Amino acid sequence: MKLTNKTAVITGGCKGIGYATAKTFLEEGAKVVIIDLKKEEIIKSIESLKQFGEHIEGFAADVTSKSSIMAAMDFTLNTFGSIDILINNAGIVADAQLLKMEEEQWDRVINVNLKGVFITTQAAALQMKKQKSGVILNASSVVGLYGNFGQSNYVAAKSGINGMTKTWARELGRYNIRVNAVAPGFVLTDMVKQMPEKVTSMMKEKSLLNEIGKPEDIANAYAFLASDEAAFITGTVLSVDGGLTL
Ligand code: NAI
Repeated sequence: MKLTNKTAVITGGCKGIGYATAKTFLEEGAKVVIIDLKKEEIIKSIESLKQFGEHIEGFAADVTSKSSIMAAMDFTLNTFGSIDILINNAGIVADAQLLKMEEEQWDRVINVNLKGVFITTQAAALQMKKQKSGVILNASSVVGLYGNFGQSNYVAAKSGINGMTKTWARELGRYNIRVNAVAPGFVLTDMVKQMPEKVTSMMKEKSLLNEIGKPEDIANAYAFLASDEAAFITGTVLSVDGGLTL
């Protein structure tokens, strides 16, 4: 098992890639705290995650709220005694082309997908610095590397995450904290199910493997990057996209 005795905090852990990551991390021996918006959803997710490992807890918090995220980190420390891994997975979309995008749509996506990552990383890194070790993994996207029609708010956030990943790798390496990002291609979750059928079938055709990704494909990349097998990897953005962007 790759992650025995490591404590991982996973934002947006109730659904999709976050849920699959919690499952994989439990199977790899980690202790996991999922952070998500709704208490009832967290309780349901914990119930179903228990079959994969006994050390699973949850905390209701919004990544845009510094006080609730600080409380989530305190809860993790009090429950499991350390914060070894942070997965900044929570993210949303609110698509519109430039000429139709409302300021509210822009702000909402930037707040959750960019500022939320800053708030959560800062809170976790303060503890990791004390521990003199830690791993921070950020959810980027292939669109952060190449742009995407109708997603300037989302693309701005994901490109920003790529830059922050490299910056924080530079700043935190001296404390033995590694920082990397994973850039998924299209992965079949609720986020992608919101998109028109023609977009998802086009993405499948563009993949060199003629496939849309599974949440577990991304979870496995996170597990590797979080483990000691990746001890010399920091500051990277790893595309996990079936060759979509080659
Ligand atoms: P999803 O929509 O299935 O799940 C996102 C989770 O985040 C939900 O449980 C939601 O409640 C939670 N969340 C949303 N806002 C939050 C907030 N303010 N505070 C705390 N939790 C919050 O999303 P999915 O598809 O699993 O995506 C996960 C991450 O991967 C996102 O950052 C997304 O941008 C990224 N990604 C997803 C791709 C895909 O094809 N599904 C492709 C590339 C990147």
